[in-house]
Amino acid sequence: MISIAKPVIGDEEKQAVLEVLDSGILAQGPRVKAFEDGFAQMCGVKHAIATSSGTTALHLALLAHGIGAGDEIITTPFTFIASANCALYVGAKSVFVDVDERTFNIDPALIEAAITDKTRAILPVHLYGLCCDMGAIMQIARKHNLIVIEDACQAHASEYKGQRAGSFGTGTFSLYPTKNITSAEGGMITTNDDAIDEACRVVRNHGMRRRYYHDELGYNLRMTDVHAAIGGAQLGKLERFNKQRAENAAYYDAHLQGVKTPYVPEGYRHVYHQYTIQVPDGKRDGLREHLKEKEIGSEIYYPVPIHQQGFYEEMCGKQSMPVAEKLSGEVLSIPVHPSLTQTDREQVVSAINEFMAKE
Ligand SMILES: Cc1ncc(COP(=O)(O)O)c(C=O)c1O
Repeated sequence: MISIAKPVIGDEEKQAVLEVLDSGILAQGPRVKAFEDGFAQMCGVKHAIATSSGTTALHLALLAHGIGAGDEIITTPFTFIASANCALYVGAKSVFVDVDERTFNIDPALIEAAITDKTRAILPVHLYGLCCDMGAIMQIARKHNLIVIEDACQAHASEYKGQRAGSFGTGTFSLYPTKNITSAEGGMITTNDDAIDEACRVVRNHGMRRRYYHDELGYNLRMTDVHAAIGGAQLGKLERFNKQRAENAAYYDAHLQGVKTPYVPEGYRHVYHQYTIQVPDGKRDGLREHLKEKEIGSEIYYPVPIHQQGFYEEMCGKQSMPVAEKLSGEVLSIPVHPSLTQTDREQVVSAINEFMAKE
């Protein structure tokens, strides 16, 4: 079976975890601090704040920016549900803007029409490892005085014109096992803003500045040193992993036939969290079945855009996002993880080309 995702865990991660277990400091401690410092450096920002997941990173970023009841956040409907749910956690509302068919990311040309006097933030999602058009998005944000919270959960070390994801506004990352690097579960917030850094640290730890003095409502959103030990070891391997993903993607680009391969605009670095093809003529689900028969994993990210998910439709009514709706019927992600062998890549290509050549 060629799996769709596979975390690569080596001796470094195992050794680091054993050291933490032997140290007696298991909860947030020196390993978290070291992981945060390394992560900030990787993104080219001043601060990184570790959290328990990508979802809690998004939640905490919104809290730190003081986004709350009555506020609106502009985001994409073509993403994982957490990108939109974080607004609900703080009593705000996600306002959806359709995506660009070539990049799968929020279409900047449609953002201004969605801005109201309640809009506080734009939350672009760098889907599958490709940055959004951050030049256009930052320009709109500056013009309308809006906060930018990047959902970079799939975009570790992805770049827009030489600048890293997570360094434009406030960045949020996931470290779930399928991501380009993992800490088992975990997340990270990145920022250059000292006040946001401070707010994240206080709210992450029950609103405490002084031990057991609580100035404000906080939560327990901390990462443990056990998770940070894994994440820290993985961080050292990120460049190698991303290079292997890019090599796999280049092989697919060169050999796949009959499907649309991912588009990478000039000046962008795609880190291929997913390698997502578009399958025309209603053949997507048939191709997926064919791959399954050949023991090749694949996945649909995402079969239902968020505005059509049951409870969103109930809450917000029916909305039309034609590009996201079309893509959700055509996209298929195929294995691109760093442990693929040349034989795996050849098998994936020949299975897809064989199916697409039929009829
Ligand atoms: C785009 C996006 N946002 C947010 C998240 C949430 O991250 P986590 O699963 O670590 O909570 C994910 C994770 O899959 C994601 O892909």
